[in-house]
Amino acid sequence: MEWGMANRLAQLIQPDGYALFLPVDHGYFQGPTTRLEQPRQTIEPLLPYADALFITRGVLRSSVDPDNALPVVLRVSGGTSVIGGDLANEGLTTSMEEAIRLNVAAVGISVFVGTDYEKQSLLNLSRLVNQGERYGIPVMAVTAVGKELEKRDARYLALASRIAAELGARVVKTYWCEKFDRVSGGCPVPVIMAGGPQVDTEMEVFEFVHDGMQKGAIGINLGRNIWKNDYPVPMIKALRAIVHEKATPDDAQQIFETERDRAG
Ligand code: 5RP
Repeated sequence: MEWGMANRLAQLIQPDGYALFLPVDHGYFQGPTTRLEQPRQTIEPLLPYADALFITRGVLRSSVDPDNALPVVLRVSGGTSVIGGDLANEGLTTSMEEAIRLNVAAVGISVFVGTDYEKQSLLNLSRLVNQGERYGIPVMAVTAVGKELEKRDARYLALASRIAAELGARVVKTYWCEKFDRVSGGCPVPVIMAGGPQVDTEMEVFEFVHDGMQKGAIGINLGRNIWKNDYPVPMIKALRAIVHEKATPDDAQQIFETERDRAG
């Protein structure tokens, strides 16, 4: 692997082999998502505990100071909205030249396997990989399901993740599911887990993250289950312990409660 590509991947995947990305890109199709209305306020307290930000260029420029050293995974697909025709109908929104100008560690793009826009989104991924490889910029593929959250089972996610890796993604972001080892085991590049909509309890989050880590994920790209929580900093600290310190769900719950009580 060329030095630039290896260096960028090393900025994202930590020396222990694991990674915690903080996604704050949701506004690119959801608008001012609850608790992400003012991105700077959401992002700043969490920065010390994340390994990278997953973010669009607009929020990066407006809401993150350039002297902040956190590596950036730049969201470069979009062109749809929650009130539009089909969330899968995405295109590339941001050029590789812009990604280089923003000094990013990687670029991220959604693919929508099994939809009317499957071919379009997979060819977008392929095009992005061709450009990224030219400049040593890794591509993270996101196996997106749009509004069809029920699609998130091992069979579907294994298929979508493998296709993304085959087309050249250096990292695949997918959802946790039962039998997650079928997803990670069939994907020849590192897999990280997204969270999806906020679940009812912190313990549910700790349990699925821990299970996915045991079954081959190298980390998380978890947004709403962190920053929609009433205590986002205790939440990210507890999750960091699972990802980087082999904490169990019970350990994580303990960390969460201690930090929450300290925060008052
Ligand atoms: C939204 C995304 C998010 O980065 C991804 O879904 C992770 O966030 P969450 O944990 O909130 O699902 O790709 O387009």
